Amino acid sequence: MTEAILSTRNLSKLFGALVAVDGVTIDFAPGKIHAIIGPNGAGKTTLINLLCGDLSPSQGTIAFKDRDITKLTPFQTSRAGIGRSYQKSNIFPEFSCLENCWLGAQSRLPTSMKFFRPAEGYGEVRARAERALDLCGLGRRMNVRAAQISHGEQRQLEIAMMLATEPELLLLDEPLAGMGTEEAAAILELLKELARDHTLVLIEHDMDAVFSIAEVLTVMDNGRVLVTGAPEEVRRNRAVQEAYLGMGDEGA
Ligand SMILES: Nc1ncnc2c1ncn2[C@@H]1O[C@H](COP(=O)(O)OP(=O)(O)O)[C@@H](O)[C@H]1O
Ligand SMILES: [Mg+2]
Repeated sequence: MTEAILSTRNLSKLFGALVAVDGVTIDFAPGKIHAIIGPNGAGKTTLINLLCGDLSPSQGTIAFKDRDITKLTPFQTSRAGIGRSYQKSNIFPEFSCLENCWLGAQSRLPTSMKFFRPAEGYGEVRARAERALDLCGLGRRMNVRAAQISHGEQRQLEIAMMLATEPELLLLDEPLAGMGTEEAAAILELLKELARDHTLVLIEHDMDAVFSIAEVLTVMDNGRVLVTGAPEEVRRNRAVQEAYLGMGDEGA
C-alpha cells in the first residue's frame, strides 16, 4: 500500500487519436507541495481535469485516501475533499467577493436542504465563505464586487472560492498566471500558508516560483511523466534538461 493521499495508476486520456495523458502513475504525499511542470501541451491541465472529475479517464485509476475515485463527478470529488482552481477565471464579476465564495461553499452542502432549517444552512455557508476570504487576505473586500478588485486579488478570490469548499487537497492550475512580481509573491506566501494544513498539487510556469515552493516535482512531456523527485534531483536529471529545462526560460 502507498502512503499517498492521492494517487494515479496508469492513467490515460485520449481525445480522438491524441493521447493527452499517457499512462501516468504519480503518488501525491499528504501535506506536501507537489508541482507539475512541462512544456505547453504536455497534458498537465488534462491530468488535473482527470483528478477532479471534470474529465473521465480512458484508462487507469485514481485513488484518494484509499478510496477509488476514478469515476466520480466534480461534485463528488469536491465532497470527498478535493478542491480545484481553474487556469481561466471562474469568477462572477457582478457578484461580491462574499457571494462568489458563497457559491463555492454551497457546493459542499447536501443536495437536499430539507433536513436543515434554512437559517442553519445559511449561517454555516456564510461562516465558511468568510473564513475562506479572511485566510486569503480578502476579509476587508468581502462586500466589494469582484469586477472591482485587482487581478491579483481576483486570483486570491479564486483560491478563497476553492477553500470555501473546505478541501483537504488543492489542485491549482497556474495560480500565478498573468501576475506582477508583487502579486505573485503574495500568492506564493498564501500557498505556503495553506500548505501547513493542506496538500497542494500545483501546475506552474514560473520556474523560480516552482523551485522556491515545491517539495516534490513531476515533469511531464507528451502526456507522460519524465521524472518525479525532489526539485534539486529533477534539476540535475539529464532527460529533463534535454526535454525541457534546457530550452532556456521559455514556457512551461
Ligand atoms: N478538450 C480537448 N479536446 C481535444 N484536445 C484537447 C482537449 N484538451 C486538451 N487537448 C489537447 O491535449 C494536449 C494536452 O493539453 P493540456 O492538458 O491542456 O496541456 P498543458 O496544460 O500541459 O499545456 C494538447 O495537445 C491539447 O491540445
Ligand atoms: Mg494547461
